[in-house]
Amino acid sequence: MARKLISLDDLTPNCLGVLKTINSVVLPTSYTAEWYQESLEAGELVKLAYYSEIPVGAIKAKQVYSSNTSKPSTVPTGVYIESFAVLPAYQQKGVGSALLENLEAETAKRFIHELIAHVWCENTAGVAWYELKGFIKKDEVEKGYYEAQGLKNPDAYVMVKKI
Ligand SMILES: CC(C)(COP(=O)(O)OP(=O)(O)OC[C@H]1O[C@@H](n2cnc3c(N)ncnc32)[C@H](O)[C@@H]1OP(=O)(O)O)[C@@H](O)C(=O)NCCC(=O)NCCS
Repeated sequence: MARKLISLDDLTPNCLGVLKTINSVVLPTSYTAEWYQESLEAGELVKLAYYSEIPVGAIKAKQVYSSNTSKPSTVPTGVYIESFAVLPAYQQKGVGSALLENLEAETAKRFIHELIAHVWCENTAGVAWYELKGFIKKDEVEKGYYEAQGLKNPDAYVMVKKI
């Protein structure tokens, strides 16, 4: 029932401010003006979510390529989630699931088989949510991943889902 209230839409220059607001209200990390500008080029890998026509959530991802420098690849090996946020008042209503399902479908359409996300190690709810959605937490922690962002205990988990 609730899912009928949820719709997804493309990011356009007119709603770039909405993406900024949602990210800055929800996430402890910040993104540069260039990052937001580049988001406009992300096509189907960036989406805004609306609940009853109110913008309440957003996901932004990018294709990633093999980091094996001896075999640099032009074929994407994964889709990396750069930002993913739903306003607190609208969490637990299916908005995040709708955004993730759409990204998974887009990933599969590109014949890419891996979704990847960094999650701040203090964000236990975020880790639990990703696990519920089938992501596996890698054993190694990325030490200091969020250091430049000034986060207390800046380590991150890498979470991966096979598509
Ligand atoms: C993670 C986040 C994007 C999920 O969005 P959401 O709209 O709240 O998620 P949904 O309502 O679609 O979640 C639905 C499911 O997750 C479950 N769920 C919600 N919060 C949960 C939690 N903290 N732990 C485990 N399960 C959770 C719900 O019970 C529901 O389960 P079901 O599908 O089996 O019925 C959102 O909570 C958020 O913005 N969190 C803060 C930022 C963040 O952590 N971002 C991701 C990491 S960077």
